[in-house]
This record gives sequence, C-alpha cells and structure tokens, in this order.
Amino acid sequence: MTDRYCVIGNPIAHSKSPIIHAAFAAQTGQDLTYQHELAPLGGFDAHVHGLMAAGVRGANVTVPFKLDAARLATRLSARAQAAGAVNTLSFQDGDIVGDNTDGAGLVADIVRNAGVDLLGARVLLLGAGGAARGVVLPILEAGAAGVVVANRTRATADAMVAAFADARVTACEYADVDAVFDVVVNATSASLAGELVPVPPVAFGAGTLAYDMMYAAAPTPFMVFAASHGAQVRDGLGMLVEQAAEAFAVWRGVRPDTAPMFSLLRQSA
Ligand code: ATR
Repeated sequence: MTDRYCVIGNPIAHSKSPIIHAAFAAQTGQDLTYQHELAPLGGFDAHVHGLMAAGVRGANVTVPFKLDAARLATRLSARAQAAGAVNTLSFQDGDIVGDNTDGAGLVADIVRNAGVDLLGARVLLLGAGGAARGVVLPILEAGAAGVVVANRTRATADAMVAAFADARVTACEYADVDAVFDVVVNATSASLAGELVPVPPVAFGAGTLAYDMMYAAAPTPFMVFAASHGAQVRDGLGMLVEQAAEAFAVWRGVRPDTAPMFSLLRQSA
C-alpha cells in the first residue's frame, strides 16, 4: 500500500517539499505520496488528528506550527527537545513522535555541500527565535569552537544562551560584533521582509561563509551585504534539501542522494 506523507503550514502552497520528497521516493524506490496540507491558524492539533485518522504516516511541519508540533508530540527526539521545535512528525500506533532535522540539514549543507569545516569554527548566529535555537546544538556537535548569538532584542538572546548553559554559547549586541567570523548564519526572519540585519561589516572576511537560512529566487539583502564585504555566500536551498533528506531517512530508513536535487530546484525556482 502507498504510504502517505505531507507538509503542514500556513501558507503552504509555495513549499518545495512535495517536489523534493517525490524525487527522493523515485530515486530510492519507496512507495509513497507527499502533499501540501494547509492547516488553519489555531487549528493545528485538529488538523493533525484528522491526518492520523486518515492513515497518514508522517508530516513535515513548517511556519508557523513548529512550536505547536513540539507541544502536540507525545514523544520528542533529543534534538527536537534541544530545539524546542519540531519539523518532522511520525505517526506510530497512536503515538506522535516529534523530531527536528533543521539543524542537521544546516550542518550537512555547510560541511558536505559548501565544503566548510566547522571543526574549531567561530560561528556568529543572527537571531534568537525558533530557527536559531534549532541549529545551535548541531553546530556545536560538528565541532564549532564557539557560537555567538546576536539578536535585535538582547533579552531573547540572553534567555536562549542561558537555556543552553554551555560556555561555548554566548550572546552579544549586533553593535558589539568587532571581529571576523568563520561562519555567519542568518537565522532571523528579516530576509522574509526584505530587511537587512544590522550586523557590522567587520564580521565578514574572505574566509567567511555567510549563510542565509532563507531561500529565495534572488539573493537576500544579507547575502548581498555579506558578499559586498568579501564573504562567500550561500542561501538556504541546501538546508531545505538536507533537512528533507534527514526526515526521509527518519521515516523510511533510507538516505537519499541529495546532489541531483539542486539543479532540479534551481530550475523550478
Ligand atoms: P523563527 O521561528 O523563524 O525563528 P521567530 O521566533 O519569530 O521566528 O524569530 C524571528 C527572529 O528574527 C528573532 O530573532 C527576531 O528578532 P527579535 O527577537 O528582536 O524580534 C529576528 N528578526 C525579525 N525581523 C528582524 C529584523 N528586521 N532585523 C533583525 N532581526 C529581526
């Protein structure tokens, strides 16, 4: 029988996840379908229960429901617990198992696809919302020497850093950034609004990878700014593909090859 999966969000029609998972399924010979699911704001739980009743096996979760998914899950993986957010649900005999593959996706894209070693790296993380929180642990596990969290609202950065309780994770003001970093990750939602995060140019050098977790057809203001100060830039397409591959592996026990996805998605952008 064909197994059913989906991605739940609001809005959701723009999501490329169905294209990615259909390609993964074809490549690995897995018998599954994957579709968009628009859940009403405030109606996430009921929507998920409806999908479970209909026999759906699992779901990816995107904006604005990742915190709802973490709350609704009856079990959480360690990385979902650390992130406080869930992007991958598996429905197993009435249980709702929550996982988070975003951080693993980011690290895989930086290390494997961009070829940037995180071992000993000094990382500047812009933003302290759910997206930022989800990537701290995987970056540390990849061997980063330190993660400095800069956020518009300092108190949110301080609270996030306190929650990690790890000497390698510290907070600062944007204005206090006064050194070059190996990797600068934009985990704010500023790019969504076409806005530039006020990070000082000194953060970027010829050896810096400036990574915007957002993916759009055109380079984001952050990428344009970082490139103008000499950094190598990368958007979030690779993270999108790698988090999907990790979710596919969680559900199916098979890891797809992500390389063919890049040209496919750039064409459909
Ligand atoms: P997400 O789940 O995408 O992380 P979020 O939890 O709403 O969404 O967090 C959004 C992040 O983007 C926050 O760090 C926010 O900064 P504040 O905590 O100060 O609100 C940041 N952000 C959004 N718009 C921004 C902008 N124009 N400039 C700088 N930071 C911005």
